[in-house]
Order: sequence, then structure tokens, then C-alpha cells
Amino acid sequence: MPKKSTVSAIDVGTSKIAAIMADAADEASFQVLGVGVAASKGLRKGVVVNPDEAREAVHEAIKKAEHAAGIKMETAYVGITGRHVNSLNTKSAVAVTRSDRVVSAGDLKRVLESAREVNSNAERRLLHVIPRGYTLDGQDGVKNPIGMHGFRLDVEAHVVTAATSSVQNLLKCVRGIGVDVEDLVLEPLASSEAVLRADEREAGVLMADIGAGTTDVALFKEGSIWHTSVLPVGGYQITRDIAIGLGVPFEIAEEIKKKYGTLLDVPQDKEGSGEKIDGASLGLDNGQQILVQDVNDIIRARIDELLRMLQLEMPSANLEALIPAGMVLTGGTSNLPGIDAVATDVFRTPVRIGVPKDVYGLADILYDPAYATAVGLLMWGARRYSEDEGTPAESAAANMSKGLRRFVNKAKHWVNL
Ligand SMILES: Nc1ncnc2c1ncn2[C@@H]1O[C@H](COP(=O)(O)OP(=O)(O)OP(=O)(O)O)[C@@H](O)[C@H]1O
Ligand SMILES: [Mg+2]
Repeated sequence: MPKKSTVSAIDVGTSKIAAIMADAADEASFQVLGVGVAASKGLRKGVVVNPDEAREAVHEAIKKAEHAAGIKMETAYVGITGRHVNSLNTKSAVAVTRSDRVVSAGDLKRVLESAREVNSNAERRLLHVIPRGYTLDGQDGVKNPIGMHGFRLDVEAHVVTAATSSVQNLLKCVRGIGVDVEDLVLEPLASSEAVLRADEREAGVLMADIGAGTTDVALFKEGSIWHTSVLPVGGYQITRDIAIGLGVPFEIAEEIKKKYGTLLDVPQDKEGSGEKIDGASLGLDNGQQILVQDVNDIIRARIDELLRMLQLEMPSANLEALIPAGMVLTGGTSNLPGIDAVATDVFRTPVRIGVPKDVYGLADILYDPAYATAVGLLMWGARRYSEDEGTPAESAAANMSKGLRRFVNKAKHWVNL
């Protein structure tokens, strides 16, 4: 039987499914109880296109995690991504209801509900309404209006919606195994949880999770989420081009990329031809010799293109002002040696590689950028757990229902109070 404090996460990625179970009794340093990883099936560019196949792969990952943890997974936080996801910043307003015009938690809830209503319809499922800041009677930049006086409360919120059909297909995979979905979390937000620091979010930072089928983007400024998007490109395109360029099967191209691929300069030999890979060592039986430089030229072209696409996604060209903390790259493709230097050249900002941190227990495999989303989902869930269990200090919150208290705590986190 899982303990009440057990939190689970499932990252349904284009190349792998990662399931993690952890004890979240201590939010700051949760203990990983079990990790299960399975090769992905039935997905394209981050989206479930064959629910039966995808369910099989998700089941395999869950079984492995359950086996390691020695308990069953009952509920999980699940990541969602894909081109069908839309994000925008919206404004909504309500009148403050109390006769003494003191803003209450109820007003906060109503103003966010009005943002939800504006953005709901049958084809789009609302995933997140994240408050970025409040305006009280025209005074903007208010982080927490509860207890302040005013007549009109406006909220600026980051609203994320997804295509209902894609959401249903993803839910089907997990629920079909008998695991309840606690919450669907936008993957760029999950990855950001795992790899960004509070000071970076405050100053302004861009997080890009470069996976296999998608590049998940999140931009934070003044402590709040500013922009999220999903680009339908990642490591698969690189592998596919290596396979076509060298005339080798996809699996061998993947092996070559991971073993020899680099964006750093490779030393040339006396003839200037550089390191060669003997095809026989990769199981090729046609005596093929592969030039590492050819592989790296393909990788360089694809990464340049990907970074330029990322640049076009930026809401402003003045990056020095927009993201003074620079960029944090994560996801499996950020394992490419030298990708940080290439990104620095393109963006002219500091760049670092984000690796999940603060995970303990059976967690060795998770110290890899490829697990940023899975670990971030767990952190998201762990915070939810502690919000439900914790007792807020403010007297205004002391008598709230559990749901409302959770809501207010969540809202506080979103605006980084
Ligand atoms: N050392 C490496 N060098 C180059 N590429 C790598 C390396 N390690 C992993 N990759 C690439 O990272 C990608 C997998 O990354 P990740 O696990 O983050 O993707 P995913 O979560 O399955 O997919 P997505 O998030 O796009 O749906 C693959 O394309 C893989 O080839
Ligand atoms: Mg991923």
C-alpha cells in the first residue's frame, strides 16, 4: 500500500516513458522509491497517436517503477506537450465583494475563474491558469492582493489550453492501466521546476527542454511565467538526417550520434580527414567507413536550425533586457557536447545545461537532463502534497476549506511569493 505521502510522475516522451514514485513527506528533498523507464511507442512529436501502443509502453514503465518501489502506483502527475498546446497571457477583472472592500481569497478565486471561463470551450481543454500579477484599482504589479483595499481587482494570467482529443488520448493510456491522473502538467513548466533557480526566474530566463520529438520552451520574468511554447523539433530530426546522410539504419545513426556526436571542434589528422568510425564496430557488414566530421556537420546544421527557430519564438529581440539570466538547456539532446557554446554564439547570452537536482534515494539515473520533465512533475506533485498537508500561517487562510487553501497556496507559488 502506498503511503499518503507517495507522489508519482509519468513523463510520456517521444523516445522514452519515465515513471517515478517518491515519498514527498519532505518537499525540499523527496526520496525516490522507484524509477521505471521504457522505450516509447505510439507517439509522434510528443503526442499520442496510437493509444494502444502508447499504453503498453506506459504500462511497462509503471510496472518497473512499482517493482523497484515495492508498492502500487495509484495516482500520478502526467506531463503533456505537443504543437496542439496554446499559451497566452490574458487579463480578467472582478469587483471586490466585501462591504469593507478588503480583497479576500474568494475574490482571488473568482477573478481566476473568470479567466478560466473566457478561455474554455469544447475543443480546447484548459490546463493551467497561472496568475502573473494583480492590479488593484489601476495599481499594477501587486503580487498578493489579499488583505488590501480596493474596488476592482484585475489579474493577468498565463493561460494554457490543449486540444481535447490529444488530452483524451493521453488520459486513456494512463487510466487504461488503472492509474488515476492527479493533474496534467505542461511539460515546459514541469522541466522548469526541476532545473531553474528562483533568482534566474526573477531576473528573466529562458528554459528549453530539447527532447527527441519536441523542444519545450518556457520563459520566466519577475518570478512568473511569461511565455511557453512547444516546437515540433528535437533529437529525432538529427538522427534521421544522420541515417539518411550516411545511408545507415535509424538505430545505428542514433548510436553514432550519442557515441561520437559533438559540437566541439574535432582534431583533424595529418591528411585533414579526421577520426573515422569502422562500420563493422557498429554491426555494419559492408566495410563502410564513417567520418566523424560528416556526422558532426549534420548535427551542427540541425542544431543551428533549431536554435534559430527558438530565437524566432522569443517575444522580444532585446534578449539582454528580456533574459539577463540567459538560457538553461535541458532534455536529452542537451547532452550534446558543446551545445551550450553554440547557443551562446547564437543568442549572445549566458547558457548552462540544466540537470535535475535535490533528488535522493534510488535516483542515480535521474541526474541526466533527459529526466528534467519527470523530476519536475514529481516536484509539482510534491508541492501539491505539502500544500494539502501544511497549515498556512496567515489568519486569513486559517479557516479556509482545504480546496481553497490549496488554491491560494498554489497561486502564491505561481507568483513566487
Ligand atoms: N549523449 C547524447 N548526445 C546526443 N543526443 C542525445 C544524447 N543522449 C540523448 N540524446 C537524444 O536525446 C533525445 C531524447 O531526449 P529526451 O529523453 O529528453 O526526449 P523525450 O522526452 O523522450 O522526447 P520529447 O520530450 O521530445 O517528447 C533523443 O533524440 C536522443 O537521441
Ligand atoms: Mg521530454
